[in-house]
Amino acid sequence: MGRHQPGQGRTGPRRLRHRATPLGPLAPGPDHLLVAEGDDGHICGYALATPPNKGQSWIVSLAVDPAVQGMGVGRQLMRETLKSLRAAGTGTVLLWVEPANDHAIALYESLGFVRDPAGTRPDHFGPGADRLLMSLPLSG
Ligand SMILES: CC(C)(COP(=O)(O)OP(=O)(O)OC[C@H]1O[C@@H](n2cnc3c(N)ncnc32)[C@H](O)[C@@H]1OP(=O)(O)O)[C@@H](O)C(=O)NCCC(=O)NCCS
Repeated sequence: MGRHQPGQGRTGPRRLRHRATPLGPLAPGPDHLLVAEGDDGHICGYALATPPNKGQSWIVSLAVDPAVQGMGVGRQLMRETLKSLRAAGTGTVLLWVEPANDHAIALYESLGFVRDPAGTRPDHFGPGADRLLMSLPLSG
């Protein structure tokens, strides 16, 4: 299947919505959970970032339903998340990515993220769980 062909019974997102997290009351401050909803209200993707702390925010998680991958949902989620982080005062956005995750790395690089010059950190999240640090300065 080509990457721009949606899977059976699935459509791309109709809208992106900011959602309160279930932990809202325990984690005061602006949250940055963005979900992409399809026509029928199903969630077909989400992005979660941390509020700025000392000017830095982390993209904690980003995922798109395999049925609608390659249709621009991930890029939309990332763009909207970066916009919301910029508005919240984030100066630098950071994230960890698996060094073999070419699709995600291509997306991040196209948005301006750069790889940490230190390179891949072996076993960062445990044995075999290598990670690459990427960062993006947000201006103005
Ligand atoms: C990474 C992920 C979020 C991308 O979401 P997506 O909706 O499929 O991505 P988009 O359609 O918005 O594509 C954005 C860019 O990603 C890259 N990309 C996405 N799918 C790709 C593919 N199959 N082949 C090559 N590049 C791809 C391209 O650079 C693409 O830009 P382009 O369309 O201008 O070529 C999605 O593949 C996913 O959920 N993967 C599993 C979870 C994951 O790896 N999350 C990231 C953890 S750090």
